Amino acid sequence: MNRKAPAERVRSALEEQAGADLARSMPTGYQRLGRVLLLRLPEALRPHFGTIGRAWVRELRVGAVLRYRGAMAGELRVPDVELIAGSGTEAEVREHGVRYRLDAARVMFAAGNRTERQRIGKLVRSGEQVVDLFAGIGYFALPAALEGRAARVYACEKNPVSFEYLVVNVRVNGLGERVMPVPGDNLSVDLPLGVADRVLMGYLPSSIPWLPRALSLLRPAGGTLHVHLVEGTRGGVDAAHSRVRQHLGRLGARVGDSSAREVKPYGPGRLHAVVDVYVRPPEATSRAMPERPGP
Ligand SMILES: C[S@@+](CC[C@H](N)C(=O)[O-])C[C@H]1O[C@@H](n2cnc3c(N)ncnc32)[C@H](O)[C@@H]1O
Repeated sequence: MNRKAPAERVRSALEEQAGADLARSMPTGYQRLGRVLLLRLPEALRPHFGTIGRAWVRELRVGAVLRYRGAMAGELRVPDVELIAGSGTEAEVREHGVRYRLDAARVMFAAGNRTERQRIGKLVRSGEQVVDLFAGIGYFALPAALEGRAARVYACEKNPVSFEYLVVNVRVNGLGERVMPVPGDNLSVDLPLGVADRVLMGYLPSSIPWLPRALSLLRPAGGTLHVHLVEGTRGGVDAAHSRVRQHLGRLGARVGDSSAREVKPYGPGRLHAVVDVYVRPPEATSRAMPERPGP
């Protein structure tokens, strides 16, 4: 049995095929999404992309290898990747009993949010009404309904490609009408006001601008917000925590129990934090039309 790590196996294969220099210069990190592998390879290795990609196809028995060209950009989180070996970029990721179908070349899947996806499934209580303002392909909405047994999850998504997969994922996970995919901008789409027990706000660098919208969706008696944001590592989760509480206070909400945690590192000197906060919206919120957040 070959006990070497996959990257080591690829390195040995490349050494035989293309020499020790190339093998040494190949990075070892990768992300696997079902049958598709994503790699970061320096531009200088371009003449060898095909050779490297095919070595990964053989060693990991994946169907396709994508190379990250640049950072995930824009509001709709479209990945910037190129195919370097194999074919077909549709994949299925199975995680904590959830099936996520996606096109790895067109839709993001943050490996670092794995624990947070699982945590949401465990936090949601049976029978809850949940709104996911940034649903993507169902990253949080699916565990909220499957493991959490929410009665209903309104899953709002603006990117048409992600939305297409969200609809597919609701079907393949057998969720029927318990997850309602809502296409379009979460500020202008029709969502039921004043009925949510919980609102998921998984948007970076900061979902704070959406707090007025989230408050308008919560039950008047109160509910839980999960506010995602990026913070400097110096202030860390504590700074993120107080920032969210302060904003909610300024909006006139009654802020109850709260806690904050790190989801993952987010580039040099920064981290991705999530603040869970129980809050009672100010009385007028559920009737007010939210304003569009600034950039
Ligand atoms: C970063 S992704 C979701 C990440 C996810 N929470 C996770 O754990 O991986 C954010 C999603 O929100 C969507 N989005 C951004 N702005 C939106 C808006 N105003 N209304 C609805 N969806 C939006 C993007 O298209 C994207 O699919």
